[in-house]
Amino acid sequence: MKTQVAIIGGGPSGLLLSQLLHKKGIDTIVLERKTREYVLGRIRAGILEVGFVNLMREAGVSARMDRESFVHDGTIISYGDNEQFGINFNELTGKSVVVYGQTEVTRDLYDAREEMGGTVVFNVEDTTIHDADSENPHVSYSVGGEQFRIDCEFIAGCDGFHGVSRQTIPAEVRKEYEKLYPFGWLGVLSETPPVDDELIYASSERGFALCSMRNENLSRYYIQCPITDSIADWSDEAFWEELKRRIPATAADRLVTGPSIEKSIAPLRSFVTEPMRWGRLFLCGDAAHIVPPTGAKGLNTAASDIHYLYHGLLQYFHDGESAGIDTYSAKALSRIWKAERFSWWMTNLLHRFPDQSDFDLKMQQAEIEFLRSNREAQCVMAQNYVGLPY
Ligand code: APR
Ligand code: PHB
Repeated sequence: MKTQVAIIGGGPSGLLLSQLLHKKGIDTIVLERKTREYVLGRIRAGILEVGFVNLMREAGVSARMDRESFVHDGTIISYGDNEQFGINFNELTGKSVVVYGQTEVTRDLYDAREEMGGTVVFNVEDTTIHDADSENPHVSYSVGGEQFRIDCEFIAGCDGFHGVSRQTIPAEVRKEYEKLYPFGWLGVLSETPPVDDELIYASSERGFALCSMRNENLSRYYIQCPITDSIADWSDEAFWEELKRRIPATAADRLVTGPSIEKSIAPLRSFVTEPMRWGRLFLCGDAAHIVPPTGAKGLNTAASDIHYLYHGLLQYFHDGESAGIDTYSAKALSRIWKAERFSWWMTNLLHRFPDQSDFDLKMQQAEIEFLRSNREAQCVMAQNYVGLPY
């Protein structure tokens, strides 16, 4: 087979890039290791920056999102003994965020790819990138034991943290930066009304908690838990009890509980690999970087990579200019590191760390109170939360 851009990974990054390029007459093939059902079974975050929303519109896949999503102008932070305050993003920055689940984003992208007759190959095994540092790269893979080969001009490595793309870049060229946090997030999805109109980020002495949502009757909650816990340790009842103890009493009284329809534990990690380009291979999204979920930057950082790569490839294929692809890695990383900083800052601000001293706790409390009382500090948070410009 032959294509202009071979895209490895059919998550949101790969699908969005494929859809955007297809609309501009650039041919792609997407290779996905799992099935569509498997990819759509993964529950991820649900906060979209304006930049992401605009990309979905440009890709022509925003109809359902525009209909079913919810605009959020701010968020609530709670701490200490039932203290809480709001941060109004819209008043501080003129921008808001949109609540729409990543699962729905991915579903809309798959539907659009199918409608446009885009090629997505599922169940691929042994994906291997060849000669990425030459003018003639190719990708080989197998499906059900049969071997295939795609010759292409470029390869987009959109295959997530555990993919093959990053590993293809020689170790002596690659530098990886990583921070692991000593806790995880236990998440529960339940068909219950959200506890509040806005998200609540709760820093309690028992650990962090987050109240989020998907729609009027679908809520998403998280609590910080030891990384050694497994979901078998957490009955629904135990989860709800623990959540109630971490959020403001008024919210706990209002909370409607119900059976969990999904429950999972995710570790928290900050990770960046540099550079994000090697020859004709470009890394995008989770293949190149991971943020802890505090701040909801995972999907949004993937989107900014896609924005830069899409425009770089357009320039190359339409104008014969390589400036856009040549600056891809530097531009993408410059924005990524700022999102890394923000996610790290919010994680440090709101979680309990096992080795935290009384002094450390006072520092956290002072910083939260400063944020509560200082408009400039709120402005910094709001600008980052709604998303830095591309
Ligand atoms: N060959 C083909 N596909 C692969 C391979 C491989 N060797 N390895 C992994 N994949 C697929 C995975 O099955 C997955 O569907 O690549 C896809 C990568 O998707 P994501 O992990 O969702 O990554 P990305 O598309 O960059 O999306 C970023 O997802 O993980 C969240 O926090 C993250 O919200 C962010 C978003
Ligand atoms: C979610 O709704 O899943 C969510 C929201 C905000 C976050 C993380 C996750 O910071």
